[in-house]
Amino acid sequence: MEELTRRAALTRGFGGIALVCSFKLDPPTRPSGKRTSAIVRSAANMPFEPFQRDLPLPPVAKPVSQTRRLQKYVVTTKPVNVEILPGLQTPVLAYDGHYPGPTFHATRGQVADIVHVNNSGRDLTVHLHGGVTLPQYDGHPHDAFANGTQKDYRYTNVQSGATLWYHDHSHGETARTLYHGLAGFYIVNDPAEDALELPRGNYDVPLMIQDRSFNADGSLRYQSDIDLGFHGDTILVNGAIAPRMKVERRLYRLRFLNASNARNYALVLGNNRTMVQIATDGGLLTKPVTRNVIPMEPAERVEVVVDFRQFGVGSKVVLHNTAGEASTRAVMRFDVVRGGAEEARVPQVLTEEEDLPPVNASREWPLTFQGLGHAQWEIGGGGFDDNRIDCRPRLGSSELWTFTNFSERVHPMHLHCYHFKIVSIAGRKPHPGDAGFKDTVRVGPRETVVVRPWFDYYSGRYVFHCHASEHGDMSMMGQMDVVA
Ligand code: C2O
Ligand code: CU
Ligand code: CU
Repeated sequence: MEELTRRAALTRGFGGIALVCSFKLDPPTRPSGKRTSAIVRSAANMPFEPFQRDLPLPPVAKPVSQTRRLQKYVVTTKPVNVEILPGLQTPVLAYDGHYPGPTFHATRGQVADIVHVNNSGRDLTVHLHGGVTLPQYDGHPHDAFANGTQKDYRYTNVQSGATLWYHDHSHGETARTLYHGLAGFYIVNDPAEDALELPRGNYDVPLMIQDRSFNADGSLRYQSDIDLGFHGDTILVNGAIAPRMKVERRLYRLRFLNASNARNYALVLGNNRTMVQIATDGGLLTKPVTRNVIPMEPAERVEVVVDFRQFGVGSKVVLHNTAGEASTRAVMRFDVVRGGAEEARVPQVLTEEEDLPPVNASREWPLTFQGLGHAQWEIGGGGFDDNRIDCRPRLGSSELWTFTNFSERVHPMHLHCYHFKIVSIAGRKPHPGDAGFKDTVRVGPRETVVVRPWFDYYSGRYVFHCHASEHGDMSMMGQMDVVA
């Protein structure tokens, strides 16, 4: 039903008229533009003022039982109201009633079983993004489980320590469910990292960055746009509008996640202060990399260590998004207070370089927009088809994948289960901060990006797709069947 509506609307809507979505949580649609945040903004400026709220931290998921080898969790997804704008209720979909969802702390080598109970009112499928996950637990778009049912996801946590995240992956609906709240952190802690003395505990902070827009009644406003993808006019971190955080004058590990539908960021700290990047999607870099700007496409993770001793007590240090417009520039603020003795440090070597197996095949993936009739985004000349396998890489091999973007839009291309190294971006080597193992890579307008995936650990059928959610939904997704 929704699918038909959207498709019918598409032929009219693409290339100008934004589509107003038919998602259940939205109030009756009103495409007049009267109810945008911009209007709420001028009527009552305060709710959108940045730095009014303290940074919330998502609750840490608590296992219902655990042994040395296995942790068990139960998570119930349901609609709830949350207070994002003071005095107003915002209906969201929430893992265990929290937006963002609870943060899982997994340990490498210890299995996590998560029973997902679906009381959301719709079909769901849970994907662990960046996870090395058996195919039956990967949250394939067509592995949805219905409202009123539950599904058991088993994560083996065989991979190195990394900042992963989980989100809904319902076919054609991910932009809506992600937008309405279904995202959370899943951190794989690697015992090998403990020896590094990186900041930990309260000094290790997950930061989920998203853009949203609001209706006057406080509900989230969503408009589908399969061309540009959704762009909101307000930045939230961990579910709060541009919050502030008290930090001591010491080292902090910040785990940035861009969990936005389609917005990209360029994160700058204060007046171009340095951040030391230690990790990317797949985990630690071999060596720390000093950066002043952190570019982030949807679904990417970047971990940095910030030394707040470079600021005096009382400093208020803003994290800006220099890729933003007026209302989407402020991301959050760090308010520096006195610190205790520093115990953490950033070592010169973080992890060892891993050699990939030899290249076994080369594949070309043109990225195109197909505007005739049934308009959609395509990979390799086709949209998503559950019955089509686009490639059959060999387990244990690596391959060269060339993404050639024939459009004017950015496509953050993502592979499930397998990590890759970036070989070249428009013929150049990647920035050292992107030299680690990645699962999502920016393919800019008219650009060619070559990556080298390593088909390690598990065989089976997985998707790869554009992570601009509106593109992935419509229908920029392919399937690989990795054969043993
Ligand atoms: Cu965040 Cu298919 O993934
Ligand atoms: Cu993924
Ligand atoms: Cu795209």
